Amino acid sequence: MKIGIIGAGMVGRAFAAAAIKQGHEVMIANSRQPDTLYSLTKSLGAKAGLAKEAAEFADVVLLAIPFKYYEQIPAEWLVGKVLIDANNYYPERDGQIALLDNKESTTSEMIASHFSGARVVKAFNAILAEEILGGGKLAGSEKHRAHPIAGDDQQAKKSVEHLLEQFGFEVIDVGNLSEGYRFERGSPAYCIPMDGAMLRQTLEEVQSNN
Ligand SMILES: NC(=O)c1ccc[n+]([C@@H]2O[C@H](COP(=O)([O-])OP(=O)(O)OC[C@H]3O[C@@H](n4cnc5c(N)ncnc54)[C@H](OP(=O)(O)O)[C@@H]3O)[C@@H](O)[C@H]2O)c1
Repeated sequence: MKIGIIGAGMVGRAFAAAAIKQGHEVMIANSRQPDTLYSLTKSLGAKAGLAKEAAEFADVVLLAIPFKYYEQIPAEWLVGKVLIDANNYYPERDGQIALLDNKESTTSEMIASHFSGARVVKAFNAILAEEILGGGKLAGSEKHRAHPIAGDDQQAKKSVEHLLEQFGFEVIDVGNLSEGYRFERGSPAYCIPMDGAMLRQTLEEVQSNN
């Protein structure tokens, strides 16, 4: 699969390493020129590009940038693409966003509203970057770590599910994007390693925002 990664920080790098390990072709971009990624891409075995080029190159695009910057990425770059939304809202970093503070929307719904032609799947937001490459095994257990996803496009979700399984995770499909609040920052499942049964139960117990 051709994977474009917009955001070459902690999440982008970890995801790139996991994807390359599984034989995928990866192009990674930051907010600057590709030459600033020379050492990183050389050590990973990835291509470097502008964000627009990473989007054009890919079937699947991971967006992993500070949430406050998502509108800097033009929606037309991602029309028809599977867009993995790994982003979280941190007011101390992103500033106060009334729609989220008032629980009138969720981060992924805001992303989907901006990238209206993309097939948005919420995933890789509720795991620490350094745990993406861990093979998904729970410490001291034979069980695989479970990972939640949400999205409205079933085919797109299947692609992301396949990637997560390749990375070693059990996938828990939470439903449509509107259910993504169940694993947003601050929810009980956020960044806590769990097996499938425990994650499913924890997600079900989260009360609706509305
Ligand atoms: N860190 C974690 O463990 C973790 C886990 C799950 C989810 N998340 C979420 O994932 C997102 C990324 O987190 P991170 O920790 O990886 O961030 P980070 O280490 O701060 O890296 C952010 C990256 O985004 C790039 N960027 C910013 N604006 C851009 C733009 N307009 N176009 C292209 N690239 C742009 C930056 O480029 P420059 O280098 O050029 O500035 C940088 O490479 C955040 O929303 C975060 O909340 C983080």
